[in-house]
Amino acid sequence: MKITPEFLNKYNKTGPRYTSYPPATSFSTKFTTADFIPAVIKSNAQYPESISIYIHIPFCPQLCHFCGCNTTAFESAAKIRRYINCVLKEIDTVAQHIDKSRKVSQIHWGGGTPNSINFDYLAEITEKIKSLFQFTENPEIAIECSPAYLTMEEIDRLAVIGFNRVSMGIQDFNPEVLKAINRRPPKFPIEQVMERLRQNNFKGINLDLVYGLPLQTLESFKQNVEKAISLSPDRIVTFSYAHVPWVNPNQKKMDENHMAGPEEKLQMLLAGYEIMTSKGYEAIGMDHFAKPTDNLAIAKHNKNLHRNFQGYCTRETTGQVYAFGTSSISQLWGTYAQNIKNLHHYMDAIEATGLATERGYSLTNEEIIIREVINQVMCNGYLNFEEIAQHLKCSAGEIIAVTGYHPSKLDPFIEDGLVEIIDNNIHVSADGMFVVRNIAMLFDPFLGSTDSQFSKTV
Ligand SMILES: C[S@@+](CC[C@H](N)C(=O)[O-])C[C@H]1O[C@@H](n2cnc3c(N)ncnc32)[C@H](O)[C@@H]1O
Ligand code: SF4
Repeated sequence: MKITPEFLNKYNKTGPRYTSYPPATSFSTKFTTADFIPAVIKSNAQYPESISIYIHIPFCPQLCHFCGCNTTAFESAAKIRRYINCVLKEIDTVAQHIDKSRKVSQIHWGGGTPNSINFDYLAEITEKIKSLFQFTENPEIAIECSPAYLTMEEIDRLAVIGFNRVSMGIQDFNPEVLKAINRRPPKFPIEQVMERLRQNNFKGINLDLVYGLPLQTLESFKQNVEKAISLSPDRIVTFSYAHVPWVNPNQKKMDENHMAGPEEKLQMLLAGYEIMTSKGYEAIGMDHFAKPTDNLAIAKHNKNLHRNFQGYCTRETTGQVYAFGTSSISQLWGTYAQNIKNLHHYMDAIEATGLATERGYSLTNEEIIIREVINQVMCNGYLNFEEIAQHLKCSAGEIIAVTGYHPSKLDPFIEDGLVEIIDNNIHVSADGMFVVRNIAMLFDPFLGSTDSQFSKTV
């Protein structure tokens, strides 16, 4: 079947995004620091055994008007030093309770713009982690960077500190669009940046593009995609601009009249997909793309692609996530715990107690089963109940009972050629991945009737 805007509209209902299950909107403030440490201790006997660490750096020298991340305009050097001290103290506090025979397989620095702070801080926190934990043989150490603040010498320094993965926010190559979103242009030509990253042996180099920003057209977005491909990154993401000015007031500063409407945005999504896949990139979900040689594409083929709050990852390298810094979310086997979102309240809490949990969620065994099934559908477009049962140490019958699955639920998707059942296993086709949220919803028994709190599924 050819994916058309009409087809996508047919399936475009409201539904959860399933970036986590249950969604972050279910987190409760009844979950406090008193619950967090017992959850960390419990995680030592749970899976995966490896440790993923997330460090959140909320600072940006200039705030882009479109941005939906938890960021704060640049603070004084003294404030940044204070923040780094807090992150160091938080790591010390939590690390005391983590089983040290478990190894760190992944560190992810996100933001904000982690490359906009003094690189000595990146080194200091990395050294702290190295002093407390053992590492696996090839840990992934990743950082989200804005090219507006990245120099050639800093790329070399990142490699010296130990980073081996970089994700760069491009958003758009056109300086006029960057001006319209109040974003600083890259400090050095991106071609030069890419070359230097490769010279330093960075892997999984990712570029973020966004569609739906002011002044962008279908044609200009296609040019962005072509230009990104010409730089030959390992991964490209095309984010749909989420316009929610009532949540992010800065977005009101952009002219809505200059933004593409929903129809044009669907065309952009499809055009990006077509160009990317015709040029040899593999679709990971519908808006992430990877070279066939990249770990994400390989994991997708092996059906062990995974997802956490930091994005797609492989089951091989991703552990339970212990997160540090304001607003960061720890993702343990049975628990989510989010830190205080307000920067100053976060620092006050850490200075007082070493911990800053603001809300969280303890999953029931049933929810752990549903999460696993939804993750498998969303990431790999594939369900084998026996395999999941083995992983969760339960029975396939239990999984079917808990998710309320019945094969007839898939009939409409099978009729549209989006799903096939082969040997009792469920396979979502490449086209079906465009409506994979709708398919995942079939396995979510706690989902009420379609609810306006959710965004559209496509
Ligand atoms: C933390 S930023 C990346 C690093 C760095 N701060 C930068 O801008 O280059 C994470 C990514 O989220 C995406 N993003 C931010 N706000 C968004 C929004 N409102 N809608 C869609 N994507 C968004 C952007 O593509 C951005 O690159
Ligand atoms: S897009 Fe990146 S640089 Fe811009 S405000 Fe958001 S986090 Fe900061």
